[in-house]
Amino acid sequence: MAFRTGISRRMMMRSGFGLRSMSSWWGSVEPAAKDPILGVTEAFLADPSPDKVNVGVGAYRDDNGKPVVLECVREAERRIAGKLNMEYLPMGGSVNMVEETLKLAYGENSEFIKDKRIAAVQALSGTGACRLFADFQKRFRPDSQIYIPVPTWANHHNIWRDAQVPQRTFHYYHPETKGLDFASLMDDVKNAPNGSFFLLHACAHNPTGVDPSEEQWKEISYQFKVKGHFAFFDMAYQGFASGDPERDAKSIKIFLEDGHLIGIAQSYAKNMGLYGQRVGCLSLLCEDEKQAVAVKSQLQQIARPMYSNPPVQGALIVSTILGDPELKKLWLKEVKVMADRIIGMRTALRENLEKLGSPLSWEHITNQIGMFCYSGLTPEQVDRMTNEFHIYMTRNGRISMAGITTGNVSYLANAIHEVSKSA
Ligand code: LMR
Repeated sequence: MAFRTGISRRMMMRSGFGLRSMSSWWGSVEPAAKDPILGVTEAFLADPSPDKVNVGVGAYRDDNGKPVVLECVREAERRIAGKLNMEYLPMGGSVNMVEETLKLAYGENSEFIKDKRIAAVQALSGTGACRLFADFQKRFRPDSQIYIPVPTWANHHNIWRDAQVPQRTFHYYHPETKGLDFASLMDDVKNAPNGSFFLLHACAHNPTGVDPSEEQWKEISYQFKVKGHFAFFDMAYQGFASGDPERDAKSIKIFLEDGHLIGIAQSYAKNMGLYGQRVGCLSLLCEDEKQAVAVKSQLQQIARPMYSNPPVQGALIVSTILGDPELKKLWLKEVKVMADRIIGMRTALRENLEKLGSPLSWEHITNQIGMFCYSGLTPEQVDRMTNEFHIYMTRNGRISMAGITTGNVSYLANAIHEVSKSA
């Protein structure tokens, strides 16, 4: 069109045609909506107030509000220093890291690991693992849907949307009890078509901090068996619920004992504090080794045009820690310290609210577990927390307990009390 016969280039430039067409390449692009979680961090960073508090993003802070690098990670870094070459990892990532990671989820002496029945690849943390799985689901079960709990981590919706897998929802949280809506959850599981895909949070549900009890997991697993559903576990917080990674893998253990072929997304962002290293793992338990080899090769083929192969540094840190009994012990101790500090802050926040004479019940703060408290504050109340008190949190009322410290807990409690007392 631009080089139509009879119109010289100079004429086109003089008329402004060239400029207009150049500037129109992206003219229709509107700014994207702010991310409901990471957008909160952006707003927090832009606020000059000395009082500001960030309880938005789920990232662990020490009692001074500072990011933490675990001692086991520092030691692993010292050991690695100077020894790391910069070669590509295989498409499936670090074999050692993946092997150690599977032991955490499937059990140290898992027969599935021994029998090589697990197709597993290193992934770009939990998000990358979920995305790889969603693409795999689309490619090999193109007519399937994914059932997602209400509510869930906001990015789950984006992940399956971009993978073009249709989404359905299932009941999970009960706003009145601020606990699990188990009866409705079970109804949804029963009413879903046989052989449906479900996304489950293995522990420390994000954003609610509400997990099924062991008995309830058993019932869910049983019903999944009856219906032939597929369980895909997002396990982003292993260790953060109880302080013990093995205990936090209980839901997985129950499903494995019941003979399910499950999928798991694992992440070291939270439990090793390796947020920016983007290290995690996607695994799918298969019927036999042959199937696992085929599935793994397809996962690698999905990864190849996206990012070719995963980054090396974080994987080496993880395999160094988990491959050394002393360092692993130190890691387990440090996970417990993080989980315990959060549990302590739950008690402190609740006590502060009760001391202020809040007429509302804050029992759920200590009942819920993991990194988050689903406070029950409305989006309007959250807006007041931010505008009047410079407290940054997601508009669904989620509070990252990891951002609370002995220094800011009473300020936070006071703000919650102020915005909620007339409710
Ligand atoms: C969160 O839920 O805050 C974290 O998982 C960080 C993220 O990427 O959203």
